[in-house]
Amino acid sequence: MKPLKKDDLIMPYFVLPGKGRREEIASLPGICRLSVDRLWPELKALQKSGVRKILLFGLPREKNACASEGYAADGAVQTAVRLIKQKLPGLTVFTDVCLCAFTSHGHCRILKSKVKSPKSEDVKATLNTLAKIAVSHAVAGADFVAPSAVMAGQVKAIRQALDKYGFRKTKIMGYSAKFASNFYGPFRDALNSAPQFGDRSGYQLNYRDSAKALKRIQAEIKEGADIVMVKPALAYLDIIYQAKQKFNVPLAAYNVSGEYSLLNGNPALALEVLTAIKRAGADLIISYFAKEAAQWI
Ligand code: PBG
Repeated sequence: MKPLKKDDLIMPYFVLPGKGRREEIASLPGICRLSVDRLWPELKALQKSGVRKILLFGLPREKNACASEGYAADGAVQTAVRLIKQKLPGLTVFTDVCLCAFTSHGHCRILKSKVKSPKSEDVKATLNTLAKIAVSHAVAGADFVAPSAVMAGQVKAIRQALDKYGFRKTKIMGYSAKFASNFYGPFRDALNSAPQFGDRSGYQLNYRDSAKALKRIQAEIKEGADIVMVKPALAYLDIIYQAKQKFNVPLAAYNVSGEYSLLNGNPALALEVLTAIKRAGADLIISYFAKEAAQWI
């Protein structure tokens, strides 16, 4: 196999609105929520480590039913991206495009009625909102937008909106095969995005179903994804392997928060797992270990 390289790694960050804010995340030791000014030294250190790719998640000032903070021009992610593109142009910036951090109910969708059920999703409004968020990230200068709402048609809707507003060069990384996983627990804590009622099993994939995962990847490639993703990674090496054999686009794998929690504190174990993810076929690995791992490889 080709060895694991720094260029394979993408480091995620949680960006807070405002200034002077740094919040520890109990379930993700070593990872913090940071306002843009506090993020700055971290990014410089990351660049020094040799990792050149980042994935940004934003936290809102307030949540509401239409997730409007997601596309605010002065939102946390938009502000961070603008600054990074001005001052640290060597970084490739990926932005997460989803609604769960911005909706009051914590689902990745706009819901139609006041009925408290994730089943009352408003497909059109959700796709429109995802597209608005993606365009706002592109305006700020994001290189890749990464829709993670697991909504059929999300990549197509975003591609069309980006093209319409003149962002043909902004690329899309689809969270194409995203399983309803128990490994996301610490992340929901980090982003304060746990659903207030119901769960995400209605839209995220059943982990028993590999055929559906491959179909979703194929569908997002057809919709225009430049990179596709399998998530989580460690318990899904078979899906990564099959996707790599079957499709001819760059493949990312997300070494998610629960995997980080399990392996944190044991670099040898973490490096073995990251290497296994690469060996299975991932071209890119999103990992909370990215910065540390740069020192191990
Ligand atoms: C939400 C989103 C999730 C993650 C990335 N984007 C969580 C979820 O679907 O509940 C998980 C990442 C991780 O666990 O590290 N759209």
